[in-house]
Formats: sequence, C-alpha cells, structure tokens
Amino acid sequence: MKIARFSRIGFILAAAGSAVGLGNIWKFPYIAGQNGGGAFVFVYLITVFMIGFSVMLAEMLIGYLGRRDSVGSFEELAPRHKSLWKYGGFMSITGLVIMIFYSLVIGWIFHFIVLSFGPLPSSVSVAKETFDALIAADIGTQLFYHTAVFMIVTAVVARGIKGGIEKLNMILMPVLFGIVGVMFLYATTLSGFGSAWHFMFTPDWSKLTSDSLVTAVGHAFFTLSLGMASILTYAASLPKGSNLVKSSLIVIALDTAIALLAGLMLFTFLYEYGAEPSAGPGLVFISLPAVFYEMGALGNFFSLIFFVALASAGLTSAVSLVEPMVQYLIDRFGLSRFKASLFSGLFFYLLGIIALLSISTEYGKFFTFGSKSFFDWADFLTASVMLPMGGLLMALFVGHIIEKERVGALLKRELGAFYSLWYFTLRYIVPIALVIVMLNLVGVFTL
Ligand code: PHE
Repeated sequence: MKIARFSRIGFILAAAGSAVGLGNIWKFPYIAGQNGGGAFVFVYLITVFMIGFSVMLAEMLIGYLGRRDSVGSFEELAPRHKSLWKYGGFMSITGLVIMIFYSLVIGWIFHFIVLSFGPLPSSVSVAKETFDALIAADIGTQLFYHTAVFMIVTAVVARGIKGGIEKLNMILMPVLFGIVGVMFLYATTLSGFGSAWHFMFTPDWSKLTSDSLVTAVGHAFFTLSLGMASILTYAASLPKGSNLVKSSLIVIALDTAIALLAGLMLFTFLYEYGAEPSAGPGLVFISLPAVFYEMGALGNFFSLIFFVALASAGLTSAVSLVEPMVQYLIDRFGLSRFKASLFSGLFFYLLGIIALLSISTEYGKFFTFGSKSFFDWADFLTASVMLPMGGLLMALFVGHIIEKERVGALLKRELGAFYSLWYFTLRYIVPIALVIVMLNLVGVFTL
C-alpha cells in the first residue's frame, strides 16, 4: 500500500495541529487553575520535556521506520520471534474513544461561535445558566453540532493525508497562531497580566498533591498526542531524510508555547475582571463569556475570534485522532479510504450520542456507571489510562525490543552527545515513571 507523503512543513503543521488542541486552550488552563498554578505548571513542563520528548521521538521513529499503519509498523520492526508486539498497534482505538467526547466539546465551541454574534451573558451566573442549559437539556442543539463535527472530520480524513489533513492544517494552524498572538498581545496591555504571570510561574509547592502529579503526566501525553499512534501514523508519511529530533522539538515547543500563551491570556482576562481562575471545565464556556461581556463592544469580537481559534485547534486534533484507525482499516482490510473514514466516523458519532445523553439531566442516570457519566469515563480512561499505557508500550518497544543498532543508526547522528541520555531515559526512567503513575492511579499507593 503506497502512502501519500506529507511535505516537510505539512508534517510539522499537521503534527503540531494534532498536539495543539482543546488540551492546550480548554484543558490546560483549567487544570492548572484547579491544581494551584505555578507548581503544577513546573511539573508539567518537566514532564513534557523529559518524558514527553523521549516518547515523542520513540513514537515518530516507529512510524518513520515502519512506514505502515500502527499495527503494521510494529509488525515490521519487531524481531521475528517477538511478532506478538504487532498488537501494540491496536492503541489506535484510543483515538476514537477520545473522539466520543472531543467531538461534543468541539460542537459546544461551534455553538459559542454563533452565540458571539448576540448579546453576551451579563454575569457569571447568567453564563452558567446558558452553559448548563446547553449541556443538561438542549440535546437537539448538541446533536446538531455533533453531527456537523462528524461530517467535517469524516470529509477531511476521507480526502487523505495530502488533500485533506495537510490542507486543513495549512489553513487552520496560521489562523490559530494569529488569533492567539493577537489576543495575547492585547492581554499584555492589561493590568491583570502581572497577576496572571505570578499565578502561572510562582510555584506554591504546598498546593501540589499526588493527584496533581498524575494529572500532569496524563496531560503531558494528552497534549502532545502521544500514546495512541497519531504521531506514529503521521510519521509513516514523512519524506525520507527528515530530521526526527528537530521535528519533535518544534512540535513540543509550539505545543508548550500555545498552552502557556493561552493560559496567561485567559488568566489575565479573569484577573482583570475579577473572575475565579479555578473554575474548572466551565472556565472557557462560563467565566470567559462573562468576561467578554465586561469588555463591551470589543467583547463580541474577542469572543468570536477566541472560539474560532478553539474550533481550529479542536478540528486539527480531531482528524489526527481518527486517522490512525482509518490507515489501519485501509492497510489491513483493503477498505477504500472513504469507507474506512465513514466506519471510524460512525463509531465515535454513535457512541458520542450516548455520551451526550449521559450528561443530560433526563437520561443521565441510564448512562452513569459508578460515579462517572459515560462522557467522563471516556475522558478519564483515555487521558489517565490508555494514553500512558500506549506510551509505556512504545517506550518499551523502542527501548528494549527493536535492535539497538537500528535505533542508533538513525538517531545517534541527530542526537549527538545526547543520544545516550535519551536512550537511557526511554529504557528506564520513562517506564518506571509511568508504572508509578499507574499504580498511584489505581490506588496501590499514593505518591
Ligand atoms: N493533543 C490534543 C489536545 O491537546 C489531543 C489529542 C490526543 C490528539 C491524542 C491526538 C491524540 O487537545
């Protein structure tokens, strides 16, 4: 099966497009807020640059050397007697499970783009009513936007790596960077900027709990799109002679920059207008619209461009969540790209409807298991369990299964003096850290 190739810049934008998503602009600011700011940001940055970089390079390497879909690439690289490793590639199912809730959230964003044209909520409590009404009772509106997201994502993926995914990223990523840049510059002129800076970068270690450590590691995987074969599948379409180290570093730098800029900008607005930084998942849907109201005429404009940026970030990640399964279905079962895209799309579309019902007041009780709704389970299981497990698998595969010489032949030249440090981190530090995090998660002990 011949896979269409990205251009070099197309790959960087697509991989950055995958990484920069709702995780950066919606999730990062609110979990940083909930976990006390500075200390959490510090742990997150260390995790991203140590564990994140090591695993990203490993994942890229599997795709780049394997040149196939996720399962096929593992199969291609595993030594003969270790062929069972090919099942490692099944992690691409994680992307579709993430899409179950990701698609709904992008749908909410579409709705908020439309709301930007009307009167904004005049207080946090009015904003909360608007948002709660959408989530808890307005099944029709959510279904409408969920369907729109399903159609857009499926249509783009069906057009393939070059004509669909690369093109989408070439258009939306500059839009996203432009908007975040403009809004950030505006934020620096406000007096709340100083407080936001202080909140994000002055660690208060007493606020750091073992839960926030687990959250930081889980989020590092989520935000960098690691552990589910998105990066692997994209890297399989890299042109020959690409520099994996440089590509990883650029993607990580862009991802981190957008998370920090978005965080600083949001907290500036919140401090400036006296709203709470620890508001939780409703931060951008509840606190922020009320802040936009306070800005007067400029507010509607900012609301519009902010939600357009958020939608762009979401869509470019969404296609990367679906593509691994599509590539797998094409490679393995010879499905046409259209059929493969449609099947994968229907999977998250139909289960997404259940997730949608699971957070509604009327049907919630039918789809709540334990203390979590189906929606929350999809989020929790993927970010805290499946992605770190996928990451662990890739670290072990590249660190211990593929022949040393093969890895060295490619990366020794690129990494130079840092090669041994990277290889050691991947072989020992990453697996140990991930196992500790997972044991902590299931409550075997607390850090
Ligand atoms: N990185 C994306 C975000 O931050 C989410 C994602 C996870 C995308 C895993 C692809 C794979 O929103």
